[in-house]
Amino acid sequence: MSALWTAAQAKAATGGSGADGWAASGVSIDSRRVAAGDLFVALRGPNHDGHDHVDAALSAGAAAAMVSHTPVGASASAPLLRVPDTQAGLEALAIAGRERFDGRVIALTGSVGKTGTKEMLRLLLAAQGVTSASEGNLNNHIGAPLSLARLPPAAQFGVFELGMNHPGEIRPLSRMVRPHCALITRIAPAHTAFFSSLDEVAAAKAEIFEGLEPGGVAIVNADDGYGALLSDAAQRASAGQVMRFGEAPGADARLISLEGRPDGSDVEAEVLGERFRYRIGAPGRHWAMNSLAALLAVASVGADVAKAAAAMVSVRPPVGRGAMERLRLPQGLITLIDESYNASPAAMRAAFGVLAGHSPAAGGRRVAILGDMLELGDNAEREHRELGAELAGLLVDAVFAVGPAMQALVAQLRRSQVAGYAGEASALASVVVPALRDGDVVLIKGSLGIGMAQIVKVIKGSALPEESGSRSGISHAL
Ligand SMILES: Nc1ncnc2c1ncn2[C@@H]1O[C@H](COP(=O)(O)OP(=O)(O)OP(=O)(O)O)[C@@H](O)[C@H]1O
Ligand SMILES: [Mg+2]
Repeated sequence: MSALWTAAQAKAATGGSGADGWAASGVSIDSRRVAAGDLFVALRGPNHDGHDHVDAALSAGAAAAMVSHTPVGASASAPLLRVPDTQAGLEALAIAGRERFDGRVIALTGSVGKTGTKEMLRLLLAAQGVTSASEGNLNNHIGAPLSLARLPPAAQFGVFELGMNHPGEIRPLSRMVRPHCALITRIAPAHTAFFSSLDEVAAAKAEIFEGLEPGGVAIVNADDGYGALLSDAAQRASAGQVMRFGEAPGADARLISLEGRPDGSDVEAEVLGERFRYRIGAPGRHWAMNSLAALLAVASVGADVAKAAAAMVSVRPPVGRGAMERLRLPQGLITLIDESYNASPAAMRAAFGVLAGHSPAAGGRRVAILGDMLELGDNAEREHRELGAELAGLLVDAVFAVGPAMQALVAQLRRSQVAGYAGEASALASVVVPALRDGDVVLIKGSLGIGMAQIVKVIKGSALPEESGSRSGISHAL
């Protein structure tokens, strides 16, 4: 395999100095996850300094380490690439990685669905050409340049997730990524703690268009109420073309019909004037909407839309974002929907739609185990209350809740729905398992910081192993 970065290329990219003769096949910032042949970049974070782990990274097989000073105890022969500042060095590597790339690049952001849509694009495009996409959720000022620095020059497609919590964060990332196609999945209340309105969120997401290559394509949601605002922003940023997806008449990718199944949906859609019928292997209306966006992105980078539509059947919800599993507990068989990675009002509603689409076996119930939605700032109480009022009207039989903000949701539920509450996930886990029944369909959802994954772990831990056939998530997810 040809090198991703030779010493000479990395020095030229960063203006750094140091040892010659090494060649790296990957880039890593975490010494515990260094693969043999990686260039280890020693970043200094609030709690850790990568310089303390250079030795460990080199022992684990790193080809070289980018450093801003020589770590104490480093041997004189250590393959070091010295730069004034390793964050800037990583960014310089990213910029050079993009500069030499002559494939097509997609950048995507949005309030919800970035990782899911990114993984969908990875799957669709990989069937048509060598594709590199950001790993997991690497979407911030470290993850985005890291992903770009990892872009193999010979790939045909690069897909990058960009995220933000504050205005001004997406702009520099998009200018670094320089996409041919910039996609915004949807504007909704999520990560809104530092914003006073959704208009502000939309404006911050629209910064992605400022990085578009000349003549590039902007893709926006036609249904979320921000289509016009984002189209205007794209045009101001000199997008060559704006495409819209959704149910709205005239959308470039338009949903015609959707038939939901517990494990996916059958979709009929018109994409750029052509009709397609396809099955998506991930349940819920939100996945269908994401698929429309993805098909426009596929078209905009010159890949085959029909082939991509046919490949949708292989899409799976990523781990923690809807991955479904049947588990045999001592009391019987349950279906577990693991949404423990993330929660926001829109994502909660999408997940409730999936839960409502299941028909539990005789004696079974629709059970929701919910944790606080974080990062909603001053709107947290209202958002939880409104969601609770909606949940009271849905076919959800039992609700367990975790976290202080969930009290506002629980207060709105029908009395018969309230099954249990705890301040912390660990406390609820022990209550939940014995309360589950044969035939239950169980949704677990909450923001990552609430620790819903612990409850998933406890439920899975109480399952009898031989019966646990699983539908695992898209690989590389999380
Ligand atoms: N179009 C959509 N509308 C509503 N919810 C969605 C949509 N797409 C995905 N979701 C839900 O949003 C949650 C987060 O999904 P995902 O991780 O793909 O989003 P993200 O934007 O990458 O999140 P993060 O900001 O944590 O990176 C999941 O529960 C997923 O099912
Ligand atoms: Mg994400």
